[in-house]
Amino acid sequence: MKYKRRVKSKPAYNLFIDGKWVKPKKMQEVISPITRKVCGYVPAATVEECNKAVSAAVKAKKKMAEMEAVERAEILDALGKGLRENVKSLSKIIMMEAGKPISLATGEVIRTAETLEYAAEEAKRIDGELLKSDSFPNMPKKLALVVRQPVGVVLAIAPFNYPLNLAVAKIAPALAAGNTVVCKPASDDPMCVFEFAEIARRAGVPKGVLNVVSGIGSEVGESLINNPKVDMVSFTGSTKIGKHIAERARFKKLHLEMGGKSPSVVLKDANLDLAAKESVKGAIKFSGQRCDAVSRVLVESPIANEFAKKVVKEVKKWKVGDPTKKDTQIGPLINERALHRVDELVKDAKKKGAKVLLGGKKLNGWYYAPTVLDYVTPKMEIAQEEIFGPVVVLMRVKNYEEAIKSANNSRYALHASVFTNDINKAIDAGMRIEAGGVQVNGAPSRGPDNFPFGGDKESGIGREGIRYTIHEMTKIHSIVLNL
Ligand code: G3H
Repeated sequence: MKYKRRVKSKPAYNLFIDGKWVKPKKMQEVISPITRKVCGYVPAATVEECNKAVSAAVKAKKKMAEMEAVERAEILDALGKGLRENVKSLSKIIMMEAGKPISLATGEVIRTAETLEYAAEEAKRIDGELLKSDSFPNMPKKLALVVRQPVGVVLAIAPFNYPLNLAVAKIAPALAAGNTVVCKPASDDPMCVFEFAEIARRAGVPKGVLNVVSGIGSEVGESLINNPKVDMVSFTGSTKIGKHIAERARFKKLHLEMGGKSPSVVLKDANLDLAAKESVKGAIKFSGQRCDAVSRVLVESPIANEFAKKVVKEVKKWKVGDPTKKDTQIGPLINERALHRVDELVKDAKKKGAKVLLGGKKLNGWYYAPTVLDYVTPKMEIAQEEIFGPVVVLMRVKNYEEAIKSANNSRYALHASVFTNDINKAIDAGMRIEAGGVQVNGAPSRGPDNFPFGGDKESGIGREGIRYTIHEMTKIHSIVLNL
């Protein structure tokens, strides 16, 4: 893949607007969490450049809305193929800019290709329905043809933790539904999305259908959100920014996938080995930098000691190290701010009486030691706030009812897990826990990506999951035949 410019042998990307690479006025550095040094350069787009990207997307709207489903599917398939041909190079870029262990980075690229391929299939299934008027008394005969139409220009704002996958989780359904896109990748690790733009250019995505502009969120994001020609904002990121977007979006359609505080409820009849393994995976995979990370484990008191020992044993199995090595599971955090935040949360918990069973400290660079905290109480900040670090938080609860009450004692409601062998309790907890989804005997998970995923309360609005995202990104239009 050819870059438009290289600065001191590091990749440097231009803006991708209207199917072309456009030289930006200003550039900014991308810092690798592995080396803590510059690993590339991307545009710091100006308001004028953001407006150009939106105008290109507006110009392409008609062509895209009129494109046949079969052609949209072909484009998505070509994008999937392009990704599969570049798995190695894309994985390396994600590893370098996100500090993501290479096995996880490779998984992310393959998962993204699968998303595109599935979206290609769904593009052909965006059907409507036929309604009759005879369900109401004395109604003249009418037929309504109800169809789904693209919303228009979708602004896709992606987070740092799955920089490629969560950008494409928006782009693919947007294109499947006949929309055009302006994508703002995460500021920490945007390079993989520019690589995707190059794949899109080569795959023949029509001009203006996909545009990529990077820069400081408070400037680029702000200018794009305020642009009246943007029809929809699809955002994944923090609740703080999501709330800000919601205040600014006015009449734009909104999809928000924000913070979480996913509980893992471990009941005394559960398979404790499975519960420990899955809760730990849920908490520390990709160093806990996931919106649906298990960030509270609510365990029934009678089994808490035995369970805590199993958790410590499980955490010790996770290999911390160099993200370039195939067997590394835990790498550095995304930046120094994130490291400091995790450390402060753990310190606050310790000060308020939590017991450190493992870790509890910074390591070299931006690494944080995989940590297990026991006896965490709701008064501690770590019991209420997102952690985004490799920390397992154990909270002891008296019984089942207290577990459900504690699970719901959060401003977030994204995802949850319950571990039990009692089918009645599994279903009861599944219904009563406030969350977009509840896993029975498994860690919280966004995938497989045809499943719905998203949250309630301060975790979000709407659902992702390819077909569900297509629904979010279309509007209902009806034609009524008066017979
Ligand atoms: O950060 C939120 C991600 O959507 C979580 O995805 O469940 O596949 O790790 P995952």
